[in-house]
Amino acid sequence: MFVISISQGKGGVGKTTTAISLGAALIECGKRVLIVDLDPQEHVQISFNSSNGHETKFGMDDVLLDNIPISKAIRKSNINGLFFITSGKRIIIAEQYLPIHKNYYTILKQNLSDISVFFDFVIIDCPPLLGALTMNAIVTADMVIIPTLPDAYSLVAVGRTIKWITQIQRKFNPGMQYRVLVTMYNKGITAHSLIYEKLTNILSGQMFHTVISTNTKLRESQIAGVPIINYAPNAVSAEQYRMVAKEVLDHVQSESKLREAY
Ligand SMILES: Nc1ncnc2c1ncn2[C@@H]1O[C@H](COP(=O)(O)OP(=O)(O)OP(=O)(O)O)[C@@H](O)[C@H]1O
Ligand SMILES: [Mg+2]
Repeated sequence: MFVISISQGKGGVGKTTTAISLGAALIECGKRVLIVDLDPQEHVQISFNSSNGHETKFGMDDVLLDNIPISKAIRKSNINGLFFITSGKRIIIAEQYLPIHKNYYTILKQNLSDISVFFDFVIIDCPPLLGALTMNAIVTADMVIIPTLPDAYSLVAVGRTIKWITQIQRKFNPGMQYRVLVTMYNKGITAHSLIYEKLTNILSGQMFHTVISTNTKLRESQIAGVPIINYAPNAVSAEQYRMVAKEVLDHVQSESKLREAY
């Protein structure tokens, strides 16, 4: 099981859109995928128009606050093979009270280890806050994806996010890697190309080669409650998220080759 946490201190940068679209792209590649929502806004659940009346009532709040087994909180999405866990109304309480527990930052990791045989990928959608929940997501991650808009304020937010996650990496998760993903890019806007150039100069090895363009089909797919990959398979953003999935799969393959070699 390979864990991808999608995290950024800034809101509205495409975290949830990336979680859902990447998840659906990995399903297309035949992988078993679980998306875990840690954001009180519950946008993952909203992204799947999939209520069949038979879902579990449990969410990540029950898992983190009441020790409900994580397997009991898993829901089917409207895409075959793609599962998710919603955050739940009380997740905000978990954000506040988790730190009173010893080793609180490993609770999510322990829970995910119970279901590791069932999934190839777990994708964690974090809140736009670098707090206790996001810390749990970073501690358990094999890869952290940091989505960013190509603007000056977002550049500062990326810097702060990287500083924060590398502190956690050093202390608790040295094997973790991070990658920055530029979202809502418009190549006709000079400021976007300037910021993109700046980012690649500073972070070349830690950037996705793929860039996600601004694409209104993505917004339409969210209204329909269906991932872009399935809603508009030929849309530019569907193709771009497939390329992100390919970059992730190539990374996983090269990591496992390295492990075999040493
Ligand atoms: N490539 C894109 N093109 C056009 N619109 C996009 C694109 N990516 C995301 N959006 C839109 O931008 C808004 C923010 O995206 P999203 O909810 O994924 O960000 P987020 O980082 O998860 O936000 P939050 O911090 O509130 O959780 C949404 O309305 C979404 O539909
Ligand atoms: Mg979100």
